[in-house]
This record gives sequence, C-alpha cells and structure tokens, in this order.
Amino acid sequence: MFRFKSIISRIVILHVFAVAITSVFMSLALSWLLSYATNNIHNEAMQEQAITVGEHLTADSDGQLRLDLPRDLLGLYSQAYGRYSYAVVDQGGRVLFSSLKNQAALFPSDTRTHNVEFLEQRLGDATVSGASVKKTVGNEAVWIQTGEDLTNRDVLIDDIVADFYRNVGWITLPILLVLLIADIAIFRRALRPLRQASEIASDIGPTRTDVRLPTREIPREVQPLVSAMNLALDRLEEGFRIQRDFTADAAHELRTPLSILRTRLDLLEDRKIGQALQKDVEGMAHIISQLLDIAELDSFVVNPLEKTDLRSVTVEIAEFVAPLALAQGKNVALLGTTEPVWVTGNSEMLGRAIRNLSENAINHTAPGTTIEFVVDKNGSVSVLDHGPGVTEEERNLIFQRFWRRDRNMPGSTGLGLSIVQRIAELHSAAITVENRKPTGACFSLRFTPLALT
Ligand SMILES: Nc1ncnc2c1ncn2[C@@H]1O[C@H](COP(=O)(O)OP(=O)(O)OP(=O)(O)O)[C@@H](O)[C@H]1O
Ligand SMILES: [Mg+2]
Repeated sequence: MFRFKSIISRIVILHVFAVAITSVFMSLALSWLLSYATNNIHNEAMQEQAITVGEHLTADSDGQLRLDLPRDLLGLYSQAYGRYSYAVVDQGGRVLFSSLKNQAALFPSDTRTHNVEFLEQRLGDATVSGASVKKTVGNEAVWIQTGEDLTNRDVLIDDIVADFYRNVGWITLPILLVLLIADIAIFRRALRPLRQASEIASDIGPTRTDVRLPTREIPREVQPLVSAMNLALDRLEEGFRIQRDFTADAAHELRTPLSILRTRLDLLEDRKIGQALQKDVEGMAHIISQLLDIAELDSFVVNPLEKTDLRSVTVEIAEFVAPLALAQGKNVALLGTTEPVWVTGNSEMLGRAIRNLSENAINHTAPGTTIEFVVDKNGSVSVLDHGPGVTEEERNLIFQRFWRRDRNMPGSTGLGLSIVQRIAELHSAAITVENRKPTGACFSLRFTPLALT
C-alpha cells in the first residue's frame, strides 16, 4: 500500500477523501431536500386549486350540481393553456365536470377514499400530478381533482434541480482548496514546536548531555514521547557522569600514591636506580595528567563571552616549553604578528592545546633545529618543526586516543592530539596538519577572530 511518511500529507489526503465523500453526500441530500420542497409547494398549490374550484360548485334546488368558474379560472384551465386541468367526480365515479377534451377524470376513481390525496397519473404523453379533495355540496359528496402537466412545469424549478449537481460540484472545489490550505497551515503551526524540539535534540551528544527537550508547546499527543525521551536523556547523562567521574577520580586517586612513590625514591641509597625509577614515575604522572585533562574536557563548556588573546597565550607557552627544548639542544622561535589576536575561548584550554602541539614538536624535531610558533592576525596559531612529519595515512590516526607511531617511546601516551582536537572542537576551531619541505610538520589551529574595535 502507498504509505505517506509525512503527517501533513497523510492528513491532507484523508481530508481530500473526506471532503469528496461529504460533498457527494451533501449534494445528494440537498438535491433530495430541494425536490422534496418543490413537491410540497406543488402539492399545496394543487390542493389550493381544488379548494378554489370547489368554492364555485353549487347545488340547485333539485339537487343538480353546477360549476360556475369565473373567467380567470376558465382561462387557467383552458385547453390552450394546457398546463392545469380539473375534474369533478361523484360517489359513483361519474365525471360531473372536466376541463379535459374527452371529459375524463384526472385520476382513477378507486382512489376516492380520503379527504385529500396527492396523486400522479399518466395521461397520453403527459404525466399529470395533482390533488384530489373531497367536498360535500348539497347532500352529495364529490371529489375535486386538479392536476398539473409535469412536462409543462415551471421551468425555473426544474432548472434549479437539474443544475444542482453542477452548481454544488463547482462550489465544493474552492471549498476543498480553502480547506486544504487551512489544513496545511494549521498542521504546520501545530508541528512547529516539534521541529524546534528536533533542532534542540540534534545538539545532544556525549559532550552535551544537559540538553532537554521543551515540553511546554508540544501537542498533547506527542507529549509522552518527548517526556520519555527526556527521562532517557536523564539516565544517559547519569551514565556519562558516572563514567567521567570514574576517569577523573581514578586519575586523582593515583596522584597520592605517585607522590609517596616519588619521596620514597628520593630516599633510595642507590642514586642511579633512583633516577631511572624517577623517570618512570614522571612518565606515569604524565599519563595521569593527560587522563585528568581528558576527563575535564568531557564536561567543559566554553563561555561564549570569554575572550582570549591568542598571541599572549602562545608567548606564555613558548616561554614555558623553552627550557625543555634548550635542554635537548633545540631552539624555540616566536614569529608572526606582534599585535593581540582576540578570539572567543578559554585561555587555560587554548594554552593546553598549544602546549601539547609544542611538546610533540620538541619531541620530534632533531637537535640543533628550531621549533617555530607563528601567530597570524587572521586568528590562527601554527607550531612548526623539522621532524619526520605526518604521512597521509597517519593524518586521521594521530588524533585517535592512545595512538602513537612508536609505542616504546617513553612518556608518550598517545592522548595529546586527541586533547588538542577536543579543545579545537569546543572552540569551533579547525585543526590541520601539513608537511614541510624538506622535512617537518606544521600543526595549525584556526579560530574565528573577533573584530574588536
Ligand atoms: N610533530 C609531530 N611530528 C611527527 N609525528 C608526530 C608529531 N606529533 C605527533 N606525532 C605522532 O602522533 C602520535 C600521537 O601524538 P599525541 O600527541 O596524541 O600523543 P603522544 O605525543 O604520543 O603522547 P602525549 O601527547 O599524550 O604525551 C605521536 O606518538 C607521534 O607518533
Ligand atoms: Mg603529544
């Protein structure tokens, strides 16, 4: 069966059917009513005529009946006019008077039972419809019959009845159209809150679990679905919260035993072993700090009113990592604009992103080379190195959690770039990686700059 996906088209189609069926029944009913009404008028007029003819019936002193019709009535019943006719019939069925040429009755005599009766009879080519009214004149009961030739009936009434379907048909078409337009407008209006709710729902994700669908303007029929959806979101949020809290709590809990471990290692008599173990502990502390950063980012929301100077953050990070680079025989250079570059964002988070990029650059660039920080006034910051670069196939892998090219590299957790990507996402920034010639990588973060006056 043909199925409609949209509620509006479903309702419109059903409405078209309903209106079509109703208009057929309505025109049938109306035309029946109209013909019933015209029949009634006709019957009343016929009865009226019979009574009028009866008023001109008189009985002589010897009981003989006489009919003296005035001239206007004689004209009405003349053969030349042909439309109306009358006959007066007595108890025995004898025709006393008749306007017909052959002096016949209009209706058969066996119908002469009631006081008033409405009858129809074929007379030659014509169909005569009329009334038979009983009257007592003198001592005798007579039946006055009056009839109208239906073939000569008033053209106006016949036309109305005959044209009725056509007229009603034409009227229903614009009514149908107006109804359909009204339907569409009403349902679009009624469904508007649902559209708004779906727009809100499209924002929901692992990082935005606090969103709930509005229930205020939702149609009552859909309310249970929306409420159930909101309850499901409550449970999901709770699940996410437990998971996030677990990562953060676990990382947090590990900090104390690690610092105890550090102090104990300091007390070790064998300095050599102590230093080697100290390095391992640093590695573990790094993993824990990266895990904590990830847990924090899972529930972090950027304040859209917060503004940060991208250049000053970059300067701060360059100064922070410079000793680490110098210790490895590598240089740090700050290039690009010297003016502040304002962007919407959190300086702490932006600093973490740039720090992760620069730590990667320091780790991969060869001793004796320089890593460069370039801040552009169009709202971007790039970190460039002279390392091996990133191959085409690795470009998506490097952003995955725990992915690293060399799993044996000490202090490498594979979380840094996923943190950078998440921070970029939260700030609606784009992160790109390109290779340099002859060798090296260039990681860039592109923000939308704020046009501050
Ligand atoms: N500048 C770069 N040049 C070459 N390879 C890189 C560069 N930056 C990252 N990579 C590769 O991508 C991998 C993932 O980087 P990511 O920063 O996510 O993790 P990590 O540096 O290994 O560990 P962490 O940053 O958590 O200390 C790295 O292990 C490295 O193999
Ligand atoms: Mg890293």
